[in-house]
Amino acid sequence: MNTKARLNQTPEWAALATHREHLGSTHLRELFAEDPERGTRYTLRVGDLYLDYSKQLVTDETLALLRELAAATGVAELRDAMFRGEKINTTEDRAVLHTALRAPRDAVVEVDGENVVPAVHAVLDRMGDFAERIRSGEWTGHTGRRIRNIVNIGIGGSDLGPAMAYEALRSYSDRDLTLRFVSNVDGADLHEAVRDLDAAETLFIVASKTFTTIETVTNATSARDWLLTELKAGQEAVAKHFVALSTNAEKVQDFGIDTANMFEFWDWVGGRYSYDSAIGLSLMIAIGPERFREMLDGFHLVDEHFRTAPPEENAPLLLGLLGIWYGDFLDAQSHAVLPYSHYLSKFTAYLQQLDMESNGKSVDREGNPVDWQTGPVVWGTPGTNGQHAYYQLIHQGTKLIPADFIGFARPVPDLLPGLVAQHDLLMANFLAQTQALAFGKTAEEVRAEGVPEELVPHKTFRGNHPTTTILAEELTPSVLGQLIALYEHKVFVQGAVWNIDSFDQWGVELGKVLAKKIEPVLTEGTGAEQLDGSTRALADTYRALRGR
Ligand code: F6P
Repeated sequence: MNTKARLNQTPEWAALATHREHLGSTHLRELFAEDPERGTRYTLRVGDLYLDYSKQLVTDETLALLRELAAATGVAELRDAMFRGEKINTTEDRAVLHTALRAPRDAVVEVDGENVVPAVHAVLDRMGDFAERIRSGEWTGHTGRRIRNIVNIGIGGSDLGPAMAYEALRSYSDRDLTLRFVSNVDGADLHEAVRDLDAAETLFIVASKTFTTIETVTNATSARDWLLTELKAGQEAVAKHFVALSTNAEKVQDFGIDTANMFEFWDWVGGRYSYDSAIGLSLMIAIGPERFREMLDGFHLVDEHFRTAPPEENAPLLLGLLGIWYGDFLDAQSHAVLPYSHYLSKFTAYLQQLDMESNGKSVDREGNPVDWQTGPVVWGTPGTNGQHAYYQLIHQGTKLIPADFIGFARPVPDLLPGLVAQHDLLMANFLAQTQALAFGKTAEEVRAEGVPEELVPHKTFRGNHPTTTILAEELTPSVLGQLIALYEHKVFVQGAVWNIDSFDQWGVELGKVLAKKIEPVLTEGTGAEQLDGSTRALADTYRALRGR
């Protein structure tokens, strides 16, 4: 497609709009009745993932038209440019190469003519050595005691990835280590993280791509003060208790961390795509370098699938296009991700940054306002808890909410034997929900149960709520990597079709600038005249409540 042609003025877009009219309110009950094979035909296998998209509101024609849209918008060309290391993040003039972070040692990926893979593996090797020294007890703190507590200080992409993955892979972690993740500039976060820790046994990992993020620098400074006070030591204690993960050696040094204790990454790694880089150090310490490598190999497997699988079998392409179908043609505003695993409790929060920071854009790559829907609101929590909270609205509310259900055939390997039997109940719920959402319960079925007529409308389920089911044998490090890469590339596909830059995040800047201006108003009462009437009054009220 000529990039100047507006997406919603292309023939492919028009064909989808017409098709949507023809499809009307065709019910999934009809689609399954017409095609007895649908439940097996609309499935894909990618690595260890089994994807069932039969409960989506699509036909063969819908899928073909969506693939035509992808072809016309150059998704494959942009994908290839990304893998080649071209600077597809145009507003920041950067390559987008998180895929290089999980490339095998002998791969060649060039940025500005230089193969970056050796540097990626050199850092992974250093991380591996360091992780082993902590895990074995060889690395000791300032007083000679073994490190038992790891506190990662970072925010956004420097927090959500390792925090999510540590939770997901707890059963693979060294249970003698305590891991905590501090992100919020609310002092309560750091307070709760360190209050019961012995400073002599605590390592702080300061994770920040830029090393200028105010929340992280503030928390890191407070953590250093806490440590030195607890140890009754001077600056010399820092070296044994602080390491940095960053692209900014200068700022790391300014902070007082020796660059010998810094693990670097590069500007072609976006924050929300960074947990395969040095940002994953806390996770690597928890699960060990080998398990970390298994996770990276899981990512790489899906990278290769995305790069090489034909459109009909390409899972990230499919998931991306389904999201476009719902958001742009069926008026869905949000997308629920509902894992049926307690260990994936932070999975959706992680995806929120991945998806919403990437595709929460309203101008295209050329800077023109878009007049089509872009990224959805992504939300969700582990499934069974949601069933007793917000699923009511998905089942019987007025909104269309496409959802992904993620589940595993086996519980984690170290689950107490007495709890293993509960897994079938969990998974029965998993399957029951997508069944109920798709097929609902008709008024006739309700009446046949002898329900009084006045209650029939209340007990009727319209059904026809679209879901994708993703099933894997077990939540292993590799499977986690496969899942995350699947969503990364799904987000990529959508950004490519919408012609937006999925790799910048200018929208978070304004709030940061304003916070810097407001802080002196709160602390010293200066500068209030620059504020709008509402914010000024709120600042005055705050100061009064603080007795200032
Ligand atoms: O929220 C904006 C953002 O820049 C994210 O993209 C990033 O993950 C986060 O802040 C943290 O940034 P840094 O790693 O530079 O501290």
